[in-house]
Amino acid sequence: MAANPARTPTPSTYDVERVRRDFPILSTTVNGHPLVYLDSAASAQRPLQVLRAVEDYETHSHANVHRGVHALSQAATAAYEGARERVRRFINAGSTREIIFTRGTTEAINLVAQAWARNRLHAGDEILITALEHHANIVPWQMVCEQTGCTLKVAPINRRGELEFEAFLKLLGPRTRLVAVAHVSNALGTILPVERIVAAAHAAGALVLIDGAQAVPHARVDVRALGADFYTFSGHKLYAPTGIGVLYGRQELLTAMPPWQGGGDMILTVSFEKSTYNDLPWKFEAGTPNMSGAVGLAAAMDYIESLGIDAIAAHEAHLLELATAALTNIPGIELIGTAAHKAAVLSFTMKGVHAHDLGTILDSQGVAVRTGHHCAMPVMTFFGVPATARASFGCYNTEGEVAALVSALRKAREVFG
Ligand code: ALA
Repeated sequence: MAANPARTPTPSTYDVERVRRDFPILSTTVNGHPLVYLDSAASAQRPLQVLRAVEDYETHSHANVHRGVHALSQAATAAYEGARERVRRFINAGSTREIIFTRGTTEAINLVAQAWARNRLHAGDEILITALEHHANIVPWQMVCEQTGCTLKVAPINRRGELEFEAFLKLLGPRTRLVAVAHVSNALGTILPVERIVAAAHAAGALVLIDGAQAVPHARVDVRALGADFYTFSGHKLYAPTGIGVLYGRQELLTAMPPWQGGGDMILTVSFEKSTYNDLPWKFEAGTPNMSGAVGLAAAMDYIESLGIDAIAAHEAHLLELATAALTNIPGIELIGTAAHKAAVLSFTMKGVHAHDLGTILDSQGVAVRTGHHCAMPVMTFFGVPATARASFGCYNTEGEVAALVSALRKAREVFG
């Protein structure tokens, strides 16, 4: 994943105004001001191409999947399984058997926690995470520790919000069974050195799970090149609907894992004495899945690739650089997370102003940022703040919106004195 290159020019071929026309919601007016949507890290907006694909599926192809010989069931199955193949290509997995649809990143991590870790780990084993993880990559492992007696270890970060790699290496040892890390920190924007993490973890005999929720919208991810054992992400941060996400897992690992939820579709046979389980990937997809969500996710991947993921990344890096420079010059603003390698996220505080009050003043000017602990309370504790305001950028944001954020912050400074 490219780090924000110095002086990133916005790519001349990237027509952001054309991109914006694909997102009708961006024309909304909020509190009498044009919406400035800077909260894509929480949930990105969906382009017409995604909305239409979902509408088309719902209008013409919906029935239950894998269950009917009738035409609509077959159309729905083709749409759903076609989406799985689209995901496989998007992340360059080796097989659609390695693509499990989930509700999102959180469910994908919980699946690995319960179906892999809970069944394999014991007292004395260790799971290693980092100090900048989202709650979704902390709490499932704490639950596994309670269930198995294994231990959670946390690699520290520095004041810029970067992983202390030497300390990480010291915590990695023969007891480490799993390393679970974010690819990009949602609260700080830090891009983690996942290639080095995977290499070190594998050398120590540990598996690696990467929480890619904040990475996949901003960079090309190739799970095979990365060597990840598990990689998770959500549709709704990738311009797709909510309620759909992906667990990628190496086939050999998924094959050896028992199912984690029981029900329809995940079985081959059921009797009161014993049930047998379906093949991959369906073994992990109990119940009727989210077909329209999967169709929307596939359409979002088509959309992103039509813009060019590298072009999107360069555009966002340019906005991040502009915003970082501008906010540094506003009195009382402190940037939280100043890693050398960052993606699309700018967290900050304003001296003497609670982040929620700041967010309210920004909203009164039409500027939508996320405020709070960003589901990363340990990160807030580390930086000694209760909360931050966070601006995050997507493929549709503009230089003008960065200027609107800066102007709204200056106004807030006046209001709060
Ligand atoms: N994980 C989401 C965020 O960072 C909700 O805002």
